[in-house]
Amino acid sequence: MPKINWSNLGFEYLPTACHVRSTFKNGKWSRPALMRTQNITMNIAATCLHYGQACFEGLKAFRCKDGKVRIFRPHENMRRMNDTAKYIHCAELPEEVFIEAVRKAVKANMDYVPPYGTGGSMYIRPLLIGTGPKIGVGPSDQYDFIVLVVPVGAYYKGNIKPVDSIILDDYDRAAPQGTGHVKMGGNYAAGLHANILAKKMGFPIVLYLDSKSKQYVDEFGTSNFIGITKDSKYVTPDSKTILPSITNKSLMQLAKDMGIPVERRPIAFKEIANFAEVGACGTAVVITPIGRIVHGSRSMEYDRKKCGPILKKLYDELTGIQYGEIPDRHNWLMEVK
Ligand code: PLP
Ligand code: COI
Repeated sequence: MPKINWSNLGFEYLPTACHVRSTFKNGKWSRPALMRTQNITMNIAATCLHYGQACFEGLKAFRCKDGKVRIFRPHENMRRMNDTAKYIHCAELPEEVFIEAVRKAVKANMDYVPPYGTGGSMYIRPLLIGTGPKIGVGPSDQYDFIVLVVPVGAYYKGNIKPVDSIILDDYDRAAPQGTGHVKMGGNYAAGLHANILAKKMGFPIVLYLDSKSKQYVDEFGTSNFIGITKDSKYVTPDSKTILPSITNKSLMQLAKDMGIPVERRPIAFKEIANFAEVGACGTAVVITPIGRIVHGSRSMEYDRKKCGPILKKLYDELTGIQYGEIPDRHNWLMEVK
């Protein structure tokens, strides 16, 4: 058993027993294989290194109340990874490669899935990269698909404690007709500068408005935006420049199950000062309540001490299903045997 302080986990890289790898060569994917190394070698002219031909995903496995390990909605991540792959012209992943690799990576690292009750989970990171050499711009004819796993705790310290967010007018995450809707590595490099600047100013999370008109809310650098209106509606942006979040999709379903009206529509920036609760949602951040949003000299304040009641109810429902405390009525969990 690895020596890990389970209740003290953050969101940091930790080496585990192994990862899984599959290679696309001559038009075919190899069967996913276990690799007992943390390193990879590739051609110095690989397209992922020079031209950013790199897609990634993030999903989680949970040690449930009954002791079994289950993965949350892996087919959704497979679909989204293939949408990214199509957009940046990578070889797509057949279900038997993606799902087998994810299962295999979790199964071979079972000792790294945090015990039930610690609040931790296993973060699964599928990565698809162009590894063939190209010096003119173009897609690779060789790819590596890697699935690595890491035991994690909260992304932002304090779990469900509100965090402060800032809008920085001088920085955009996604171009109006760019790549914001897919999960490629370059999007995160594009956001690093604003991210570091915000952190230095005391704001762990950056909120982006749409980069064309700056009149509408897009999303956070790490996650989607959720607002709860004063009349208790769940609202979330409909935008072509945000990542379609699987957590948000799941929460919209849970909200509907609870009888909470759900609106997915453009959200005018001027509307958000009136929201009763604001949250960030995603695999890594789960639901992280937002205590305030600062924009220039203005500050929009929500509850800065604790998570609001509706977001808390949704958080409890989602994590209750994930940890097997509440029946999995939508069939979202895949057991790893
Ligand atoms: N938006 C961005 C920019 C993200 O990086 C993520 C994380 O994957 C999300 C939203 C949330 O997506 P999901 O809920 O599928 O993890
Ligand atoms: C995830 O939530 O899985 C992500 O990829 C977000 C990233 C900022 C860690």
